[in-house]
Amino acid sequence: MRLTDHEKAMLNGDLGEITQQAMQALYDLSIFYDVEEFVEIVGCHDDSTVYAGEAQVAFAEMLAEKGAKFAVPTTTNACACDMNLWNRQKMDVETMSATRRIEAAHIKMGAVPIWSCAPYHVGTAPSFGQQVACAESNVICYYNSVIGARTNRYAGPLELLCAITARAPYFGLHVPENRRAQGLVKLGKDIKEEYFTDESIYNLVSYAFGSIVKDRVWALEGVPSKGMTNEILKQFSATASSSGGIALFHMIGITPEAQTLEQAFGGNKPRETVEIHLEDLEKAESLLTNPEVDELDAIVLGCPHASYNECVMVRDLFDKRKVASNTNFWLITPRSVVDRLKDSGVYEELIRSGVQVYSDGCILEYRCNNLGTRTMMSNSGKFDTYCFSMRGIQPVFGSMRECIESAVAGRVVKEAKPWRK
Ligand code: F3S
Repeated sequence: MRLTDHEKAMLNGDLGEITQQAMQALYDLSIFYDVEEFVEIVGCHDDSTVYAGEAQVAFAEMLAEKGAKFAVPTTTNACACDMNLWNRQKMDVETMSATRRIEAAHIKMGAVPIWSCAPYHVGTAPSFGQQVACAESNVICYYNSVIGARTNRYAGPLELLCAITARAPYFGLHVPENRRAQGLVKLGKDIKEEYFTDESIYNLVSYAFGSIVKDRVWALEGVPSKGMTNEILKQFSATASSSGGIALFHMIGITPEAQTLEQAFGGNKPRETVEIHLEDLEKAESLLTNPEVDELDAIVLGCPHASYNECVMVRDLFDKRKVASNTNFWLITPRSVVDRLKDSGVYEELIRSGVQVYSDGCILEYRCNNLGTRTMMSNSGKFDTYCFSMRGIQPVFGSMRECIESAVAGRVVKEAKPWRK
């Protein structure tokens, strides 16, 4: 490998034992993958934050005790629960104790403790073209696709080593040529532009797109730019990385590396083109919904964590109405957004409507068995993809408005849509 003087010094142990060990592990990995050099990174989003067993906690504590420090700004992903309201969430003491140990170790290494899977909503995201190391699939997909920052799909412990050394093996999506689209998904003529005023269609297009693309880099043509928001692109990123293994997509005319078809493909022609139609959206929704569910144990918004604007939209959609007594409404948002909601008075209005506002945790890590939750509705293609396989919960997918109407009614409320028969 070609190494800079600084990288050689890290490998030689001149910057301490733990930096040497971190660099050695990255070096060995690079040799395994025939990588010829490292790239300097400017930030890291750290996903070894959900308790997955004693080995994970012990690893973080070992790093911290040996004096490891993050050399780049490193934000923490969501953990298993709300660290202050864990008791109300019926989280077990063992997981909560382990979460506190993870918190202590990561803070000792210098992490920025945002505990959120939406770091882009709290002002900590990288800029276009910056090299970073991230885990958490929606963050990877959003950073690569929506911002144009560059990261591979890292696994929890590995990106900690990148953060300690400020280096990543220079391959995959770190390299500009590998970021070009290879194939193209086009929206069929039966998917009309006016359908995109309903934000839930993006999740369904994304689910269909991810199912076709898998883990390749492809482009999507036909999505209107009118009305596009960061929140829509967040949902698109989360769902595409769940129905497929997408780490980077290009939305023609919308995402920064795909302002034109030519730019997305680097002047090449698509190797393959696939059209999706209304029936693909219908199929996507059928895979995200159990049609037999009527009564709902809970409705959840905030997968990925909700932005301030989304919380305000929830307040507006409730319009002073209340969550029905037979269900629960959970809204999960970063802790800094909760502070803003409290400052603006929106928090109080949400509470008056019966909304339970939580921070820090990933909804898929909630102890839903302890809460007696068997059926849930959400506006998240990602949550609805995983909730049955991971938690045994029967999902219902709907728009944000349908989620709120269902919460008020205490049972599933759905509107007529062009892709629903
Ligand atoms: Fe975030 Fe968990 Fe959803 S990490 S994206 S709330 S599955």
